[in-house]
Amino acid sequence: MKNLMWCFMMIAFTVLLVQCKADDHNDEIASLVDSPNDTPNLNPRPPGGGGNGGNNNGGGGNNNGGNVGGDGAIDANVLDDRGLPQNIVAPADNALTTAKVELGRLLFWDPILSGEQDVSCATCHHPEFGYADGRALPIGVGGIGLGPARQDGVNDDIGLVQRNSPTIVNAAFNGIDDQGNVNPNQAPMFWDNRANGLEEQALLPLHSFEEMRGHAFSEEETLEVIVDRINAIAAYRNQFQQIFGGNNAVNAVNIGNAIAAFERSIVANNSPFDRYARGDENALTPQQIQGLNRFDAVGCADCHSGPMFSDFDLHTLGVPDNPLLGFSDDGANGQYEFRTPSLRNLNTTGPYFHNGVGGDLTDVLNFYRRIQGNGGGNGGPGNLNINPNVNRNQIDQDARNLRLNNNDVQAIIAFLQTLNDENFDQQIPGSVPSGLPVGGNIQ
Ligand code: HEC
Ligand code: HEC
Repeated sequence: MKNLMWCFMMIAFTVLLVQCKADDHNDEIASLVDSPNDTPNLNPRPPGGGGNGGNNNGGGGNNNGGNVGGDGAIDANVLDDRGLPQNIVAPADNALTTAKVELGRLLFWDPILSGEQDVSCATCHHPEFGYADGRALPIGVGGIGLGPARQDGVNDDIGLVQRNSPTIVNAAFNGIDDQGNVNPNQAPMFWDNRANGLEEQALLPLHSFEEMRGHAFSEEETLEVIVDRINAIAAYRNQFQQIFGGNNAVNAVNIGNAIAAFERSIVANNSPFDRYARGDENALTPQQIQGLNRFDAVGCADCHSGPMFSDFDLHTLGVPDNPLLGFSDDGANGQYEFRTPSLRNLNTTGPYFHNGVGGDLTDVLNFYRRIQGNGGGNGGPGNLNINPNVNRNQIDQDARNLRLNNNDVQAIIAFLQTLNDENFDQQIPGSVPSGLPVGGNIQ
């Protein structure tokens, strides 16, 4: 059949969940799945999944509406309902296409988006560090180098960014609920949930003085300047025109849409835990299964719930301030509330907590042993005291109710390792249309 395309569309709230099979045009998400030159691991099939060509093997369309793939045979063996979905849900007005993802990738790596043209999104969200930066607190404008080795520039009056860089891997699933439903327009963003959706989030770093803007222009001028710069580059102009159409294809909304589409394509949903969840009993060791059971039993899952192991809600734990910051970050609502982070891919997202004061997972678990129960804040194991600005009775009840024993620590850490999946798209463009150094000043 020529140019045959079939689509299965399901409307959930304002969202279209689209599964398309594209034969001879490479414009649909299915080609992302199939083409080895695109993003080969975007949508790995679950074990035993029926391989019918380009079908994006997702739940929701054909038989179950569930979160573990469209092959009914898999559902029969589900061992845990927290496996990540195989399908990606995009907003109705920002369909995921190969061309858009690739444009978004270029923008993500192009320092032309920053005031002084030295920082790109990838400076702090780099595949070498699991699309985070491996630092407690990032260095944006004026910095030189990558990851933990990155340093402040000379004569640079711009300090550290206030919070730890989260990964963008699986940000497509931010806000996912216990049933596996995703509402991409509402997806909570940032440690304090102050933005919704990847589209809205993508334009915010451009405005941030420390992250990308610097002294080059005022915050109000940000989008105007960046749009003009991108519009002046023919290669960008043509791509925007082809992908979005219309007269002024290079505009802020389309820049946000392209970057968001790229981020949404960076998915890692085939960890050992996901394979276990879908029915492969041998994907976890007995110790890891014990750790999973203890994780649930001691109360971690009260907040770290659902397929992302986050309720995406705000909680006060009283994590100590990072002394490098020089002030106390009181989080959301001035109550030291921070969002429960996802526990996926922890092997590449440390150091931990909103300000990176948790050096490793043992630090984190010892911190929980310290805040649980009604014990004093300063005794107990580990070296992370409770933030002196946070009263014990402000600490979230679910955290005080934890029942973590000394013996649990190693088993739970062993379980957390099963949530790692580094099989995500790590491609770095060879060049960006501005001709600037790819990724910014990161060499
Ligand atoms: C200088 C470092 C830096 C740069 C550059 C940067 N980010 Fe971030 N990013 C961060 C930090 C830090 C946070 C968390 C900030 C907060 O929560 O207040 C963050 C948060 C995010 C989040 C939210 C993730 C979540 O789960 O909540 C996304 C998505 C994101 N950045 C994408 C981008 C994009 C797209 C760009 C480029 C347009 C970009 N970032 C540029 C450091 C950076
Ligand atoms: C009351 C809700 C709640 C409970 C219960 C809870 N957590 Fe958390 N968890 C959070 C919040 C909120 C943060 C972020 C705190 C911050 O950065 O200030 C966090 C952070 C973490 C981090 C750091 C992740 C990162 O990327 O920075 C890990 C690991 C973690 N928790 C594991 C656990 C484990 C294991 C348990 C059970 C022993 C547990 N949590 C219990 C809410 C909770």
